[in-house]
Amino acid sequence: MTPRSFLLTPELADYVRAASEPPDEVAAALLAETAALAERGEAPATFQIAPEQGAFMQLLTRAVGARRAIEIGTFTGFSALCIARGLPDDGTLLCLDRSEEWTAVARRYWERAGLADRIELRIGDALPALRALPAVETFDLAFVDADKTGYPAYVEELYARMTPDGLVLLDNTLRSGRVLEPQSDDDRALVALNSALASDPRWETVLLPLADGLTVLRKR
Ligand SMILES: C[S@@+](CC[C@H](N)C(=O)[O-])C[C@H]1O[C@@H](n2cnc3c(N)ncnc32)[C@H](O)[C@@H]1O
Repeated sequence: MTPRSFLLTPELADYVRAASEPPDEVAAALLAETAALAERGEAPATFQIAPEQGAFMQLLTRAVGARRAIEIGTFTGFSALCIARGLPDDGTLLCLDRSEEWTAVARRYWERAGLADRIELRIGDALPALRALPAVETFDLAFVDADKTGYPAYVEELYARMTPDGLVLLDNTLRSGRVLEPQSDDDRALVALNSALASDPRWETVLLPLADGLTVLRKR
């Protein structure tokens, strides 16, 4: 069972997927391997983005003509696979994650998809890695899907590193609906960030009710 948009019934989620670009053979195998890891208790079942979100992110990457992208929180590599597929042949994706184990799965599938040469993976804590990047306008697209309490700092650090009109995508901004009644530090971090971003003049902000909530920020 792959993750799905929490606002959809299983039947509607199947319908949405059937009406959208299907995962190709490599992506389908990666989804299946990650689901098997979760079934064996070797990885959280909720980490991977939903297939319909992957299809959307691939389309969006291509539609905005992104050439340089960054991902914070890679896991077994499905979201990175989708972003990388949306890049042109000379495009690049920089992935930051602290898990050697889970990203080893990612590397295998990127290789299999013929995308390994456009993806660079840096293992370690994401915030120092991000801060170590030159504070110059570099990335056309960023996807943030790591520790939730780290999101405010990631958004802050990304601002100077995004090109004008560059898009930052923030995952899990609805927290399965718990934004209405936050129950954890992760929930409260996202509630505070959602509220701050709605009135931050540096960003144009839209929270899409896709999957677990996907906020799109455009650098003004
Ligand atoms: C929700 S998963 C990412 C899922 C991935 N985007 C996908 O669709 O398959 C979160 C990932 O963030 C990584 N992570 C969490 N906190 C981190 C941190 N402070 N620095 C680097 N990586 C971190 C975890 O190792 C995990 O792989």
